[in-house]
Amino acid sequence: MVTKVGTENDRLEMLQNLIKLDHAAVEAYQAAIDRLDNQAWREQLAEFKADHMRHIRELSPLVQHMGGEVPESGGAKEMLTQGKVAMSAIMGDDAILRAMKSNENDTNTAYENAAENAPPEAREILQRGLADERRHCNWILAQLGAEPRPEVTSRPRSESSRPGQHGWH
Ligand SMILES: [Fe+2]
Repeated sequence: MVTKVGTENDRLEMLQNLIKLDHAAVEAYQAAIDRLDNQAWREQLAEFKADHMRHIRELSPLVQHMGGEVPESGGAKEMLTQGKVAMSAIMGDDAILRAMKSNENDTNTAYENAAENAPPEAREILQRGLADERRHCNWILAQLGAEPRPEVTSRPRSESSRPGQHGWH
């Protein structure tokens, strides 16, 4: 699912949908945190979840100022590729992180589009939100890149095993 959030012609609706998307991300992150074994990953995801909660706090006054209702949840329609229900069925830390990567694709796309279409008073908040989303995505990518691959054997180190030499460049 490629999200359409951030491309709405109606800017109030765009900001309301972004808030819904952030709610959905908070719920998906919580479902992920509940299921992860890796303590360091749980702590990092809790920080990302807090960023999404801050986005909601920052966007809400803009919506109110435009005379709109502030969404209090993600709504009935699933906003993310791997929403909280899907997240609750996923087993294994790597699979959970890969699923959150799909969700970050959605939130990154939405914030990219929204930052481009932003009304002037929302621009700074959306740019900051986009920077958060990029940071979330890059962290997840780095973790998945660092995934241990037990089938890979160590390369020979004879050339760097002379006494007094440390490290290998
Ligand atoms: Fe995010």
